[in-house]
Amino acid sequence: MKVELKKCRLADVKDHLLCVFLMQDEEPSWDIKQFLKDVKKERFTGKLLQTFYADSNGKAGYKHLLIVGLGKKEEFKLDFLRRAAGLSVRYAASLKHKELAIYLPGRFISRPELTRRAQAITEGAMLASYKFYKYKTEKEDLFEVEKIRIVSEDDVAEGIRLGMIYAGAQNYARELDELPANVATPARIAAEARKLGREHGLSVTVLDKRRMERMGMNALLAVAQGSEQEALLVKLEYNKGRNYPIYAIVGKGVTFDSGGISLKPALNMHEMKYDKTGAVNVLGVFKAVTELKLPIRLIGVMPLVENLPSGSAQKPGDIVTAYNGKTIEVLNTDAEGRLILADALSYAAEEKPEYIIDMATLTGAVAICLGKHAIGLLSNDDALAKTLIEAGNESHERVWRLPLWPEYSEMIKSDFADIKNISETGEAGTITAAAFLKEFVGEIKWAHLDIAAVDLVKPPHPYLDKGASGIGVRLVLETLSRLPKKK
Ligand code: BES
Ligand code: ZN
Ligand code: ZN
Repeated sequence: MKVELKKCRLADVKDHLLCVFLMQDEEPSWDIKQFLKDVKKERFTGKLLQTFYADSNGKAGYKHLLIVGLGKKEEFKLDFLRRAAGLSVRYAASLKHKELAIYLPGRFISRPELTRRAQAITEGAMLASYKFYKYKTEKEDLFEVEKIRIVSEDDVAEGIRLGMIYAGAQNYARELDELPANVATPARIAAEARKLGREHGLSVTVLDKRRMERMGMNALLAVAQGSEQEALLVKLEYNKGRNYPIYAIVGKGVTFDSGGISLKPALNMHEMKYDKTGAVNVLGVFKAVTELKLPIRLIGVMPLVENLPSGSAQKPGDIVTAYNGKTIEVLNTDAEGRLILADALSYAAEEKPEYIIDMATLTGAVAICLGKHAIGLLSNDDALAKTLIEAGNESHERVWRLPLWPEYSEMIKSDFADIKNISETGEAGTITAAAFLKEFVGEIKWAHLDIAAVDLVKPPHPYLDKGASGIGVRLVLETLSRLPKKK
């Protein structure tokens, strides 16, 4: 789908379908008012996402008009524009319109605010128009809106450009995340990383099993040993060797999590194909960072494994020595994410980045704690946590910080090794998981994003279809764009 700027006045719009967003009690411009004047107040009050549809009957350049409510002015949030744009696209698709125009009024609005709004509208439209249909053999019923024009009297091209890059990266991550585990093996995800590297000029290194054995990445390898699929660790580098501050992002890439010998119940086990969301989000971030040409150095690390039970699988009670030398007692093979991240984080920390941010579908407990509306944030650095919280408010991929007090680290001390991979009490599952990860970042400033509750969308969502959400990509992009750029 394409999003373009049409710089003109509302009266000059010639599109088939025009969408206008109105706040409650906002006086519409005359062009719009002529179609609203017969409407009783009760029928369209401008409540959030309320719609009103009219035919212009030749009284305007456009044929159809869709008005979408934005709610009360004092309650306005940027995300309402994503939702209204998403709704407009879905509406247009249901009426089989291939194109639509969305009006973005600019009066009394500052330039940066207008850019933000254009970006949000572009994101909402692009995210709402994405659907996974790779495996549908009959594509005829799948209707796509092909083009959106953002109509504005001002030059909002920069906002549209940003929106297309951000949402494009998120949709790219969604497409990969949706691939089933028989297709998206560690090797396939590594091949995607190489492809992205070729197309975007990144340096890509893939560590195979032998290499990791020699290096001593035993925590990662232990998770993979029950599967026929070889474990891989991918390292991506953007602006390698350039004199910019280094940031690192790490993403959990479990291409399927059956739980291993600590097997999960059958109900909803198929959803564990999404246990690679962290890793594919890393690819999404790299795609956008190169397109944005951000003046930073970025290192990406993706540990890729499949967690299956078999005669060669690791067993509860096994003890492994991680890459950084710490010994881990594996009490539950289903707490595998932290095992592969242990080695990936210490590997990333060797580069001495300013910050490490990891994304992982790490614990079911985060949904118990925060529901599906937030990403769990745990960090050893207040400034980084603050930036992530602010970025999350901007991208509406909101994060909520949980504590990492020393008492939680006590809970994962092992009787027979340095640490154990679960606390048997089951309490504070999201925090003890993060306390485990903390053992592998050393002194590096780090933040962990537990995305287990937000990786998968079940309707209704105002602009994301059922399935892989790609949530986390725009959050990390927004964060990286707010971190210091120069050394
Ligand atoms: N991949 C799961 C976490 C998960 C659960 C993601 C539900 C998405 C939806 C993770 O590997 C896991 O199994 N965690 C265990 C940890 C427990 C054994 C301490 C969990 O959350 O049950
Ligand atoms: Zn698991
Ligand atoms: Zn998992």
